[in-house]
Amino acid sequence: MRPKVAIVGVGPGGPAQVTPAAREALRSSEMVVSWDLNLGPVRELVAGKQIWLQRPADYRDVAARAARAAFATGAATAVVRIGDPTVSGGLDNLLELYAGAEVRVVPGISSVQAAAAVAGIELHRAVVFSFHDEDRRNAEERDFLLEAHRRGRHLVVLVGPSMRPADLAQFLMENGTDPATPAVVGSRLTLPEERVDRCTLAEMALREYDWLSVVVV
Ligand SMILES: C[S@@+](CC[C@H](N)C(=O)[O-])C[C@H]1O[C@@H](n2cnc3c(N)ncnc32)[C@H](O)[C@@H]1O
Repeated sequence: MRPKVAIVGVGPGGPAQVTPAAREALRSSEMVVSWDLNLGPVRELVAGKQIWLQRPADYRDVAARAARAAFATGAATAVVRIGDPTVSGGLDNLLELYAGAEVRVVPGISSVQAAAAVAGIELHRAVVFSFHDEDRRNAEERDFLLEAHRRGRHLVVLVGPSMRPADLAQFLMENGTDPATPAVVGSRLTLPEERVDRCTLAEMALREYDWLSVVVV
């Protein structure tokens, strides 16, 4: 069967950031595939549906089994992504997994936009980096960070275990960036626990932040 599959961005966490289009895509789905965290702002919309919950230990397996079930039954399927699916959301893998289905991507508000908004920068003058996943290309990405900064672009960085805000600050300073360079760290943006730290690289290098953070330099 050729199932209808919506890859749905639900925004950075606050219920007010879920778009009407995302709500509609979830309402009209029969089956939902998601990490628990991603369901936060839309939990009541998916109540009663068949939910495939992904966890760190089994997320690939759950994704593959859910896709097989969608093709076998033709169930209208919503794959939920935090923020926007086109930003560090595993979109390439999903499009491969659902090749042959009737797929549409429902954009969401990204944490990148939320961070750009609190920092007051224009995204077309920035380069977006993601260190969320352990990736073989991380060394290449680090070189590109320096190049983008040298060329006067803002850096918008989704941090991860291999690149926390302190690591980023340290890396930029070790490679010649002025320690007084201003930065903004947005943590848990749009959630009730939201924190925004306006600091310098030197200060950022000494601070700990929530893992759910975006840095703008
Ligand atoms: C797997 S990526 C997903 C990005 C997502 N697709 C987006 O558009 O925001 C997860 C990373 O997004 C960032 N992130 C997601 N939600 C956030 C929030 N509410 N506040 C700050 N950073 C957030 C963090 O850097 C986190 O490590």
